[in-house]
Amino acid sequence: MIVLGLEASCDETAAAVVDMDAPRDTRILSSVIWSQIDQHRAFGGVVPEIAARAHLSAMDRVMAKALEEANTPQIDLVAATAGPGLIGGLIVATASGRAYAQALGLPYQDVNHLAGHGLTARLTDDIPYPYLLLLISGGHSQILVVKGCHAFERLGTTIDDAVGEAFDKVAKLLGLGFPGGPALEKCAYPGDPQRFALPVPLKNRPGFDFSFSGLKTAVRRALELLPSPEDQDRADLAASFQAAAAESLAVKTRKAMSYIKEVYGQPLPLAVAGGVAANATICATLEGIARDFSVPLYSAPLSLCGDNAAMIAYAGGEQWAARQEQVWDMAPRPRWPLEELES
Ligand code: KG4
Ligand code: ZN
Repeated sequence: MIVLGLEASCDETAAAVVDMDAPRDTRILSSVIWSQIDQHRAFGGVVPEIAARAHLSAMDRVMAKALEEANTPQIDLVAATAGPGLIGGLIVATASGRAYAQALGLPYQDVNHLAGHGLTARLTDDIPYPYLLLLISGGHSQILVVKGCHAFERLGTTIDDAVGEAFDKVAKLLGLGFPGGPALEKCAYPGDPQRFALPVPLKNRPGFDFSFSGLKTAVRRALELLPSPEDQDRADLAASFQAAAAESLAVKTRKAMSYIKEVYGQPLPLAVAGGVAANATICATLEGIARDFSVPLYSAPLSLCGDNAAMIAYAGGEQWAARQEQVWDMAPRPRWPLEELES
């Protein structure tokens, strides 16, 4: 089955063609990502109205390029992100996908963006169900048990900011520009992660929930105490923040792994997905946890950490194969918790 996937839930317009039956390293026939970052940079964040217009003007081109690069005589299914995300882009992705499918008489599958990130380890590595997933992006921070392509059990989530959001806000405080995550990681590189003692929120609280907004406030306070911060101060603060964020994720992941070990009688493989999975410090921390529990860690290649349409095509392909349930009229959903897929 060859799937055309479309993604436009935030600030990337993307289209991809995935061959579900090909071996894992040749599955992605094309993956085109057109980033709108330049249009949002001046505003220091994604502006929904600008994003919607940019998706509308780019989608046709991006889709045509993905189809041309895939160079395949057939498409068997069209899949598009229908939520969660910014409504303008969701409308562009789903309307484009449905129109294309209708015109060619193909089936169509709505895809949950988080399921796309969540199933990336299957697209790249054929990881078997069930597995433990740390989903860390600009909009979400969740620990989930993935039991099937429609079955996600959420163990924990953030009670305030997502971890990527915290990276973006701290980067802004440090004057590092937008998007903040990669800039902060670069700035932290020569920094001393132990110079500033920052809190690890909810560390000793029961459960698997995260909190990142207190950490961001602690960075602001530390910055205010520095009369005229030099580059080294900024690097130290960035490194200290990054270490505390990694520790916060690690504490709850470790706890979730122990819980899983009890419930399933053995630890499950660990997968990490979402834009923040591009962070080397966080990945190294998670590698340590996987090693301690003697399970593999699956982290997506950089090109599949951030938003892309290959993950949407793949998730759509699996979900279509599982249910073959044609739905044309679901309204795109700015909020769409993964747990609702099961019903
Ligand atoms: O998954 P994604 O592309 O979009 C959402 O669905 O949110 O994630 C984007 C987020 C942004 O907050 C960005 O700053 C963060 O991922 N990010 C990083 C890194 N690269 C991207 N955060 C930390 N370190 C990075 N290297
Ligand atoms: Zn995403």
